[in-house]
Amino acid sequence: MKVGLTYNMRRENPGEVLEPPGGFRGDAQAEWDTPETIAAIQSALEKRHDVVLIDAAGDAWNLLRETRPDIVFNIAEGSAGPCREGYIPSMLEHFGIPYSASDPLTLNICLDKSRTKEILAYHGLPTARFCVISDPDRPCESPADGVAGLRYPLVVKPLHEGSSKGIYNDSLVRTHGELVQRVAWLQESYGEPALVEEFLPGREFTVAILGNGAGARALPVVEILFDALPGDVNPIYSFEAKWVWDQSSDPLRIFDCPARLDARLQAEIEKLCLDAYRVLRCRDWCRIDVRLDAGGRPHILELNPLPGVLPKPEDNSCFPKAARAAGMGYDQLINEVLDIACARCGVLP
Ligand SMILES: Nc1ncnc2c1ncn2[C@@H]1O[C@H](COP(=O)(O)OP(=O)(O)O)[C@@H](O)[C@H]1O
Ligand SMILES: [Mg+2]
Repeated sequence: MKVGLTYNMRRENPGEVLEPPGGFRGDAQAEWDTPETIAAIQSALEKRHDVVLIDAAGDAWNLLRETRPDIVFNIAEGSAGPCREGYIPSMLEHFGIPYSASDPLTLNICLDKSRTKEILAYHGLPTARFCVISDPDRPCESPADGVAGLRYPLVVKPLHEGSSKGIYNDSLVRTHGELVQRVAWLQESYGEPALVEEFLPGREFTVAILGNGAGARALPVVEILFDALPGDVNPIYSFEAKWVWDQSSDPLRIFDCPARLDARLQAEIEKLCLDAYRVLRCRDWCRIDVRLDAGGRPHILELNPLPGVLPKPEDNSCFPKAARAAGMGYDQLINEVLDIACARCGVLP
């Protein structure tokens, strides 16, 4: 089979790619994949297929039209704006080329954490109470009760980012003054509204889901161990925790997989994640972040329908880690995702 691999690649020289509105920040490329990850996925797919590389920041339109892959393995995070993950899948739909992972609607909704939470809440799935603030001087727009109804401490995050972009140690605020300051900083740095959520103080987990319909299943649950972080920092999986304090040359022991869970809590977390996967209409695979409230009840933090898959175990990447705990190596995981997508699209490998 001819398999396209669509991606956004990190550059040594950011000037090679289109500058995002507001210019480049230190974390501007955090969502994109390294040449190493792209090569690892390519190599896994090449065990069974011919692979065409398609850089989403290049001339993807003409390359797709000319090469017409039988199916595309899509990991392209997109370049700019709240609908950036929908760019390549929309193009693929236009050309009638089947592809892995969720459709543009689901990808873009999951990139808007408040829209995601509204859908979860509609279906009765627990998620932290929240509001969205665009103007720190006019504290709340949605829902109507606003920040006044929320209990401190609060977590302040950009509405449309992933990979812990905009989530730093200071994102946990304890006073109105800190909140106003943080919202202003987010607006200045990212030019987007702030999602303000009540802080869930309990244990944190992330759950890798594979499959579709009745065949969707959870891989072994990963726990984030905040004890692994330097002393005196807030227990959040911040940008510093993901990319600064944790280096592959000196990895933090930040994950435990399979998480030590009693059977009831494990079943509750898995069911919550599978329900969230279904109501957001995710396809093929997704990684879902979960945190317990003060009473030990799991809540959904967010869904990642294009999960990161760093190939080296020392890079601390959750999806490959969960797959390894299930006895599945990296190449097997990538080909399993492709096979799941082929089965869903009726493409014969
Ligand atoms: N409401 C919350 N309560 C507790 N911790 C939170 C909350 N929201 C975010 N966090 C912390 O911040 C981290 C990143 O937030 P998340 O919404 O998953 O953003 P990202 O898309 O950048 O991964 C989480 O893994 C968690 O540790
Ligand atoms: Mg997350």
